[in-house]
Amino acid sequence: MPIFPAVDPIPLPAPVWLLKLLHIVTLSLHFVAVEMLLGGLLLAVLLSLFRRSPLALLTARAVARRLTVVMTFVINLAVPPLLFSQVLYGRALYTSSVLIGLYWISIIGILMLTYWLLYRFTARLEAGRSAWWVGLTAWLLAGSVARLLSTNMTLMLRPEVWQKMYSSSAMGAYLPTGDPTLTPRWLLMMTGGLFIGGLWLVYLAGRSTFTAEEKKFVAGLGGKVAAGFGLVYLAAGFWAASVQPEAVKLGLASDPLYRFAGFAGYGWLVLVVVAVLVGAVAGFGKVSAGWLGWTGALVVVLTEIMFVVYRDGVRDLTLLSKGYNVWDRVVVTNWGVVGLFLVLFVVGLGVMGWLVSVVARATKTMEGAA
Ligand code: HEM
Repeated sequence: MPIFPAVDPIPLPAPVWLLKLLHIVTLSLHFVAVEMLLGGLLLAVLLSLFRRSPLALLTARAVARRLTVVMTFVINLAVPPLLFSQVLYGRALYTSSVLIGLYWISIIGILMLTYWLLYRFTARLEAGRSAWWVGLTAWLLAGSVARLLSTNMTLMLRPEVWQKMYSSSAMGAYLPTGDPTLTPRWLLMMTGGLFIGGLWLVYLAGRSTFTAEEKKFVAGLGGKVAAGFGLVYLAAGFWAASVQPEAVKLGLASDPLYRFAGFAGYGWLVLVVVAVLVGAVAGFGKVSAGWLGWTGALVVVLTEIMFVVYRDGVRDLTLLSKGYNVWDRVVVTNWGVVGLFLVLFVVGLGVMGWLVSVVARATKTMEGAA
């Protein structure tokens, strides 16, 4: 019996390389937003515990106010990569999604609860009330969504366990066990949150809505967190790569693109080290200059692109070793539709740029203002 379900008879409407390119770009942006949410929220929760420190509370409020907006980016930037990965990997991804169906569908409810808690967390901070437990609950829920996503993204690579799981329960009520790649992969995303959350603070410290004293505090704290957790993130990256099957490791080391993106070609590695240095300069020198924040932001986006390319290699090579070749599809490109899509894509980016410029030009209130 074939290990993967039969391929859809409808051909792909666009070349595989184009779908992959769009997938990598949009997923990288999803990951930037996810890391800001996971890291920014935890930092805000921890800072809110220092109720006697006006600077800590001000920073917690400044981050919390932005988190509900970040959440909209997490979700909106998640839909495009979901669609692209379903088109490219549907036979594997739909199967794994059905196998953990109850948990998979529960993500919608968990997300709504998280979103509501984020608003409550911000409102309680603004009112000067104790808020840490509300924020912590939201963080735990967001972390569990991350865990479910890692579970599905690794289960889709293990067709050998699907049959047994389905025989145990056709209700989608079991979570898979025994995959050594799952926890390192999830922890890589979780530690990346504090790393990128720290750099986000360095970026915020460059905003004119903070006073000079506040800027020093925010840059100093964010920079130290980024530098410290950058190193933890590096260690988690090595761990996640080291637990991959040998065939996958060999493929990653011999393919020029994955060599460049990952460790052997130092793409991801160099970028994380640069980001750690940015954090160290901001953290120990208490430098809040705008250019430093922008450098950190640029490095973060590039780091996520490298990470997503490498991660894509892990998926393609794992599936290939089990007989699933993502490039092996019938393509009948509908250039009219592809052209229309690309035009709308660019227009959409333009509208987002315009929205950001409107926000940037709006009258600013100081972070400390009531
Ligand atoms: C609190 C909200 C969310 C968090 C914390 C989160 C976190 C994550 C994490 C950690 C991963 C990487 C999993 C791995 O490969 O190990 C991931 C991937 C992904 N997420 Fe999100 N996510 C969130 C919301 C969403 C939503 C709402 C959607 C769908 C509409 C979504 C779609 C995806 C997709 C499609 C991928 C993987 C794409 C691929 O590999 O092709 N995420 N997310």
